[in-house]
Amino acid sequence: MPEELYPVKPEIARVAHVGSMEEYRRLYDLSMADPERFWAEQAETLTWFHKWSTVFDADYEEVDFGWFLGGRLNACFNCVDRHLKDRGNQTAIIWAADEPGVYKHITYRDLKHNVSRVANVLKEHGVKAGDRVCIYMPMIPELAYAMLACARIGAVHSVVFAGFSAEALRDRIVDAGTKVVLTANEGLRGGKVIHLKRIVDRALEGMQTVTTVLVARRTPSEVPMQAGRDHWLEDEVKRQRSTCTFEWMGAEDPLFILYTSGSTGKPKGVLHTTGGYLVYAAMTHKYVFDFRPGDIYFCAADAGWITGHSYIIYGPLANGATTVMFESTPVYPDPGRYWRIVDDLKVNIFYTAPTALRAIAQAGDSWVKEYKRSSLRVLGSVGEPINPEIWRWYHDVVGEKRCAVVDTWWQTETGGILITPLPGATPTKPGSATLPFFGVKPLIVDHEGKPLEGNGVSGALCLNSAWPGQARTIHGDHHRFKETYFTQYPGYYFTGDGARRDEDGYYWITGRIDDVINVSGHRLGTAEIESALVAHEAVAEAAVVGYPHEVKGTAIYAYVVLGAEYACRSRQEMQGALKEQVSQAIGRFAAPEVIHITASLPKTRSGKIMRRILRKIAASEYEGMGDITTLAEPEAVERLVKEHRDLSGR
Ligand code: WT7
Repeated sequence: MPEELYPVKPEIARVAHVGSMEEYRRLYDLSMADPERFWAEQAETLTWFHKWSTVFDADYEEVDFGWFLGGRLNACFNCVDRHLKDRGNQTAIIWAADEPGVYKHITYRDLKHNVSRVANVLKEHGVKAGDRVCIYMPMIPELAYAMLACARIGAVHSVVFAGFSAEALRDRIVDAGTKVVLTANEGLRGGKVIHLKRIVDRALEGMQTVTTVLVARRTPSEVPMQAGRDHWLEDEVKRQRSTCTFEWMGAEDPLFILYTSGSTGKPKGVLHTTGGYLVYAAMTHKYVFDFRPGDIYFCAADAGWITGHSYIIYGPLANGATTVMFESTPVYPDPGRYWRIVDDLKVNIFYTAPTALRAIAQAGDSWVKEYKRSSLRVLGSVGEPINPEIWRWYHDVVGEKRCAVVDTWWQTETGGILITPLPGATPTKPGSATLPFFGVKPLIVDHEGKPLEGNGVSGALCLNSAWPGQARTIHGDHHRFKETYFTQYPGYYFTGDGARRDEDGYYWITGRIDDVINVSGHRLGTAEIESALVAHEAVAEAAVVGYPHEVKGTAIYAYVVLGAEYACRSRQEMQGALKEQVSQAIGRFAAPEVIHITASLPKTRSGKIMRRILRKIAASEYEGMGDITTLAEPEAVERLVKEHRDLSGR
């Protein structure tokens, strides 16, 4: 079947940073032939207090990478202060509140004052360069101030998405060793109140190590404040000066930790450093979205995830952009919310996840067409594979066939986008992330770890190059960093994804091939959910798999075996209790869609759970189960299939 190819739009190419395939190839070849020269040139776009002496240095055995060594800079200075001269009065952040139609414009000058005040508050509470600070906040401007304030004084922020539960928050606070937590009294999302301070209180119960909790006021509600520990942020900043000196950080000093899920139960604190990360975030933001000064840029992610770090805060602000920070959901108060914002603010570049697009496409095109989208030029997608139908819908309906669609593949660990089209250069194919960004060398590797040459191959997606934005370690566990990413396919970084390289050399990401699932663009480890389930006294055993879901992309399916004394409980009651259990342990977004209570799990005679079979049944694929004769109890499969049919009606 000939694949659809969408040519580059001439109007976009004419003014783009990279305006043709030849230009893309020229730059790509340069980045491969002389990476140090290439990246040194890019690094010049930032402001350095002291120039680096070595562009790149690596100890591959130790998996120790360093970029721009000897260089000194400050990420906050680069995102804020250096813009004051030329664009002090330009809007840096447009905050789009949960309430429809409510916006707040924050100029670069305001941003500097607000960030400096928060930085001074942190200093007053004893935060020093290198200290970790936990940020558990809703999408309010104070979240951006807090991140940048940390960067200003050299503290390492650990933002925890405000959808995580108290237990999950506690684990992350303990792992990072944070003494200060920033939060809000309450969050507002889709008109619903989230009791953030209450969750923080629960997370900190019995914990002596956190000495300060700073509470932003998002709603008028009062919340209990523990004397000596808790302080209202608004009172604290009032006392502070609007200026605060910045630390001259080394290029390889940590900028932040961000927890993400892996194949074990314990989340990993992915650590990014200052110089390389910022160079990479800024550069990719400029080229992938074809960002130009004056553009209104709207990434609808939450700053609690890497997309928000790199493409709401650091990348756009380093480039002096006007970046939108959106507090609400794509369907509040109705599925036209994104396009209302696009119309109100005259957004030029828009970036979201396929799951959000699927949810709003389902509601019908009229929600899109009700608003003018003539300002739009580039439409981005991230977080999971985008199905060709929704890609076409994005292109045809949202973008009126006028905009470039960029399907951007990357990960928390990569710091920035790695495989993507460039709006003015790359002809696109719906569903394909297309070609590598500059400096990136993807490999498709077979079972034995042998890279497959040529086109028309599929296998595990690995990377065979170093780029400045890549994570340097897992906080407190470099061994795990090495093990997770660099041992499975020795010599290469293993992404955890499967991929195909088609006849034209285009990459198609087929999804995770490890024990990680992407649910509505949220990354979760099956082991994490399993350990939450077995922590419930009723559960003897649990196995979690992902299955295809129309809106969420992948949804969570949990097989659960109950202990003997619970076997007679009502299923409905148990299912509710177990969903609640996972919500408490991780967060509501991790609660399984389906809880399948059964008598036993299919295992090999050596006791290994046959996940392949569980995945097939969850997906209602009853054919091709493969060899089941090695099962200890082959009849279990038939029973599970029958139970699944009853549960799902399929
Ligand atoms: C995983 C990383 C990168 C920011 C958001 C997610 C999947 C991401 C795409 C894409 C297909 C994608 C991969 C990846 N993913 N973007 N364009 N096409 N899959 O970051 O939470 O670290 O998850 O998201 O499976 O490994 P994350």
